[in-house]
Amino acid sequence: MNAPEILPSPASNFSLDVWSARQLDVIEQALSRWVACPGDAPALAGLDNAMRYAVLNGGKRLRPLLVMAACAAVNGNEQAALRSACAVELIHAYSLVHDDMPCMDNDVLRRGKPTVHVRFGEAQALLAGDALQALAFELLTPDDDSVNSQTQARLCRMLAQAAGFQGMAGGQAIDLASVGVPLTSSQLHEMHRLKTGALLQASVMMGAACGAASLQAQNALRDYGAAVGLAFQVVDDILDVTADAATLGKTAGKDAAQDKPTFVSLMGLQASRQYAQKLLAQALASIRASGLENTRILQALADMLVNRQH
Ligand code: IPE
Ligand code: IPE
Ligand code: MG
Ligand code: MG
Ligand code: MG
Repeated sequence: MNAPEILPSPASNFSLDVWSARQLDVIEQALSRWVACPGDAPALAGLDNAMRYAVLNGGKRLRPLLVMAACAAVNGNEQAALRSACAVELIHAYSLVHDDMPCMDNDVLRRGKPTVHVRFGEAQALLAGDALQALAFELLTPDDDSVNSQTQARLCRMLAQAAGFQGMAGGQAIDLASVGVPLTSSQLHEMHRLKTGALLQASVMMGAACGAASLQAQNALRDYGAAVGLAFQVVDDILDVTADAATLGKTAGKDAAQDKPTFVSLMGLQASRQYAQKLLAQALASIRASGLENTRILQALADMLVNRQH
């Protein structure tokens, strides 16, 4: 596979579009190749189909773009970044499959299509999620010299921490335990930081780990990732109220219907919008403090992520 082409920093959103289109092309091809299980093997009993359905079905690929942008900022190893980008997306896809299941959010629509358990049944959805998680770590540990073993170990540890009980899975547990429970601001921050922020922050940090970032740069990117990660879920909460299912590709209005604590339920729509913009400003300030030169892609991505309409 060819290495992804990292273009010079974009000076405008139009350049972000050009950069993103090229990155997405490479990422989609890589995902399609790496989630290609031996399709006709009867022993897989259709599990490979459920996995491919869960991953190769649209999705904005924001986490992979953050990985590639952070790697570009530190001039890192693009093969390691591509593997990291796909690994993070596999964890994300698995989290969505499980998030949609009847025992969690009980959703029937995802990325404009029936959810995996609706299409393939609950057992296959559970297994597809499990298998995607395992595949993510397989991708991070190639059996060749394209990624040195120290970097492989570091990437695995970062992803494991972000996906596990100190990250996404822990946040999802709090989410489910909080139905109908009015959380305090700090409890809601903690839930969002874990369930969504951790994986977005890890995307940035894994991209940076593909190169040699200074301590100053690593700290700045960690702060950028935290701000962007939290802002992302604040915007997800806002869109759940303001956008429709056709735009979102998933059921709208679910949070209020299921009595989930969200930023909108805590502080209202207007204050949530202002808070998202405040977090964007924090993310951009962190980037400026990084000492890195090639950060315009990260800046433009933060802006796109917070001001997205779906
Ligand atoms: C939705 O994530 C789920 C959350 C973590 C809030 P995305 O909005 O990134 O979903 P896709 O990948 O584009 O479908
Ligand atoms: C999902 O949050 C977070 C994870 C999948 C880890 P939500 O439940 O708000 O995501 P959507 O709104 O269903 O996409
Ligand atoms: Mg959920
Ligand atoms: Mg959900
Ligand atoms: Mg949501």
